[in-house]
Amino acid sequence: MTSVAVVTGASSGIGRATAQRLLREGWHVAALARRGDKLRTLAPAAQGRLLPLPADVTDELELRAAVAEIRSWRPGVQAVVASAGDFFARPMTATTAAEFERMWRLTVEAKFLLVRELLPLLEVATGAAGQPGPRRAIIHVGSLAAFQDFGNESAYASAMHGVRGLARSQDAELRGKGIRVAMLAPGLVKTELTERSGFSARALEQALTPDAVAASIVFLIETIRAGGYIPEILHLPGAGATFA
Ligand SMILES: NC(=O)c1ccc[n+]([C@@H]2O[C@H](COP(=O)([O-])OP(=O)(O)OC[C@H]3O[C@@H](n4cnc5c(N)ncnc54)[C@H](OP(=O)(O)O)[C@@H]3O)[C@@H](O)[C@H]2O)c1
Repeated sequence: MTSVAVVTGASSGIGRATAQRLLREGWHVAALARRGDKLRTLAPAAQGRLLPLPADVTDELELRAAVAEIRSWRPGVQAVVASAGDFFARPMTATTAAEFERMWRLTVEAKFLLVRELLPLLEVATGAAGQPGPRRAIIHVGSLAAFQDFGNESAYASAMHGVRGLARSQDAELRGKGIRVAMLAPGLVKTELTERSGFSARALEQALTPDAVAASIVFLIETIRAGGYIPEILHLPGAGATFA
């Protein structure tokens, strides 16, 4: 049976590594991000199973158009990974209301819209003879910032707490339908995001790789599909990791 995943943030970092890992494991992947050129080069060997969808996930109309394309490609979706996001750390006095709002829209609201718009595809029964199909999985990429206090992260940390609340509430709302929602919260990962955010070379040397985080995301998905459930994983780098 064809397994279809929708991955946002698939042009870079954690989302890209997750899309590539799912494609390697035989999934069909609808990959969303704004940079279509990066999406098209995701997996040259798996073109038939890759649907690149350039879209801004904070734009409700663009998101709806992408979901319509997914529906006409494949009628049902078995997994969703929401990894589109950003980061900045700045004192409160240097953070504008517009920056704060942008962080919340991308980190939290876009995940809400994504799941709401994909629900009809997640609800498509895939089982034979009226039996429910395998359980479906939604994985929100959160952050250590939802568990540990860092200064200068009013916008980012509050949004990541929002992701945790969103995952908990969506799981309670959807579990009766066989859809489970979990959160993967990484510590520092070496990606475009951290390379442009002023982390030291030493910190980045010790950071996780995107593929290691992708492995945890796929583990969460497979656990759900096998009938289990892990609500959240905190995935930290081994060296230099702190958790108070
Ligand atoms: N890297 C870390 O250390 C770390 C640690 C903890 C949590 N996280 C979180 O993990 C998530 C992914 O981070 P990452 O490190 O993988 O970052 P990344 O390498 O910068 O990737 C971010 C992805 O989000 C996409 N994106 C950003 N804005 C978008 C928009 N408006 N519409 C559609 N796509 C958008 C980007 O694609 P386009 O630019 O092509 O649109 C890109 O594919 C973020 O929420 C981040 O805060 C990261």
